[in-house]
Amino acid sequence: MTHDLTVRAPAKINLHLGVGRVRDDGFHPLDTVYQALSIYDDLSVGSAAEVRLSISVADYIDRAGVPDGEDNLVSRAVAAMARHHGRELPVDLVLDKSIPLAGGMAGGSADAAAALLAVDRWHDLRTSDDALLALAAGLGSDVPFSLVGGTARGVGRGEVVVPVEDTGAWWWVAVPSTEGLSTPTVYRHFDTMRPDAPEVPASAEPLLEALASGEPVRLARALHNDLQEPAIDLRPELGDLIVRGEAEGALRGIVSGSGPTVVFLCDSADGATATGRALAGAGHDVVLTATGPVAGVHVVS
Ligand code: C5P
Repeated sequence: MTHDLTVRAPAKINLHLGVGRVRDDGFHPLDTVYQALSIYDDLSVGSAAEVRLSISVADYIDRAGVPDGEDNLVSRAVAAMARHHGRELPVDLVLDKSIPLAGGMAGGSADAAAALLAVDRWHDLRTSDDALLALAAGLGSDVPFSLVGGTARGVGRGEVVVPVEDTGAWWWVAVPSTEGLSTPTVYRHFDTMRPDAPEVPASAEPLLEALASGEPVRLARALHNDLQEPAIDLRPELGDLIVRGEAEGALRGIVSGSGPTVVFLCDSADGATATGRALAGAGHDVVLTATGPVAGVHVVS
């Protein structure tokens, strides 16, 4: 089977993740700043008589951890598009995953956003941007950001996304864990640890000011994640990893989203390579170097 169209979807991290008290609908109000990083899942599309999905993964990803068939967010995204347009949308899809699973880097959300764009282009549906964003929000809180990419502020439950000017070229080292951590578990643990959490989440303004300075040291100081404490309480080794990466030259380590991936901001490409090598030498099997911001989901061929 030849595939004529490939859509690439980036991982995300949260430079700021302010979390407020849980809402009546079970979601938490957020004030967050997302950044898209150069770690990608690719989704290739070809013709088929029905919707088909096959999955391959990078050598550091456990294939068994990726849901198959209708449980995969790719399939759910195609179904949502089909409902929206009131017609069947047969496609053969091949998903090639490099974004760590259940790692707080929105891999599943990236795949869903890729599927929306891929099916739209393949069937020449010309879905409006507003409709794509609404469909994305219905699939998950992070999915609209995966469409938008770059650096963006997210409010609501994270699904209301406003792009932010970011002229920096930031260098990161990402260290995934062998075992994922479920997002709802970390949010529930936040509720237990922070029963006094304010209704209005911590503002992203200080982070945005640091970002505008273009200075890695200022950005490092401003990084903030309210889910870090609960994630480390559930996985104490993450705290040790942050200390180790900072001792190996990173400006700052922080849990990515709900974790357990830890990302380190470095002062340069060389700095990221050196920190990455040191962490790999210290026994971390999977160490990824990445830059941000990069584009949201886009067609590559
Ligand atoms: O929206 P999404 O499907 O990605 O959310 C997964 C889970 O993460 C939700 O069911 C909820 O438990 C938690 N969540 C939350 N508040 C948010 C986003 C996600 O509590 N703003």
